[in-house]
Amino acid sequence: METPLVAVIPGDGIGPEVIAETLKVLDATGADIKTVHYDLGAERYLRDGTILPDELLDELRTSNAILLGAIGHPSVPSGLLEQGLLLKLRFELNLGVNHRPFRGKSGTFDDGLVVVRENSEGLYSGEGGFLNRGSAHEIAMQGSINTRRGVERCIRYAFHLAAKRPRRHLTMVHKTNVLPYAGDLWLRTFHDLSIEFPEVTTEYHHADAACMYLVQDPTQYDVIVTDNIFGDLLSDVAAAVTGGIGFAASANLNLDDDGPSLFEPVHGSAPDICGTSRANPLAAISSLMLLLETLGFSRESAWIEEASTAAAAMQGTTTAIGDAIAQMVSDLRNAHVHA
Ligand code: IPM
Ligand code: MN
Repeated sequence: METPLVAVIPGDGIGPEVIAETLKVLDATGADIKTVHYDLGAERYLRDGTILPDELLDELRTSNAILLGAIGHPSVPSGLLEQGLLLKLRFELNLGVNHRPFRGKSGTFDDGLVVVRENSEGLYSGEGGFLNRGSAHEIAMQGSINTRRGVERCIRYAFHLAAKRPRRHLTMVHKTNVLPYAGDLWLRTFHDLSIEFPEVTTEYHHADAACMYLVQDPTQYDVIVTDNIFGDLLSDVAAAVTGGIGFAASANLNLDDDGPSLFEPVHGSAPDICGTSRANPLAAISSLMLLLETLGFSRESAWIEEASTAAAAMQGTTTAIGDAIAQMVSDLRNAHVHA
């Protein structure tokens, strides 16, 4: 196998801080992977006004995976970098599914839950416009695009995932009661696919109720599949009730295998704690765990899972936690080499 190439985008705020720790951990695994750094984010934008030049995007397409820290900065208008960089990467790189795992009571992912979020359609499509903007008769429209292909790809992934897990339970979340068109397509697709996966038990919850159930008792969920905006909201709720946003990892997956997938912590650039060494690097390190698994480095990924689980309750600075996990990973690797 040719040495895989991982494009690293540390980004803004605490992004570079957590990515530095993540790269220490990658180093400790000894995985034969080449990394290339990309200077993208607020600093670049403030320097020369560019967000994601086409030639850089084309370069990123040729990588085997992308590791991203966080983007967003108080001196850049909100939405600019989100749309011009993160969402653009999700759309342009065909990252149709966002896999977000959360730890369970045991502290491991085994008894936790996974939110499978549709990642390139729905309300995020950018469809819409204004009429009479700024006037008393202003109208703003914001459409939700749902294609059979996009919805099916996402739900099929969730069924495959649920079928591999001990509980084999899949809950679809939507608001079919008020979104009849999108809801109907989602629900029909869900029913159609459930026939292909008789081993998976299924359930449907409205999105508002699902938020409440998650807060009351997240253990009732195994895999949740939902659209883009509901997945955004549900994954923050799931993070809050399973340890906090500092632990939440994600994989933006290209399931067609026609380009790299992108791995990133669910959290943002957190300008309020940037520079204080209080950022938890676990979300980024767990994203590396997902990246390695996807690239076929299962053993290395398992070491990170074991080490990060052991470090989950650890208090300390960003660097202290990163060092501790890197040390544990390196011990696991040595034990393996000498076994
Ligand atoms: C996330 C984030 C993004 C989203 C933002 C930064 C555009 O909140 O990955 O959950 O809304 O998807
Ligand atoms: Mn979000």
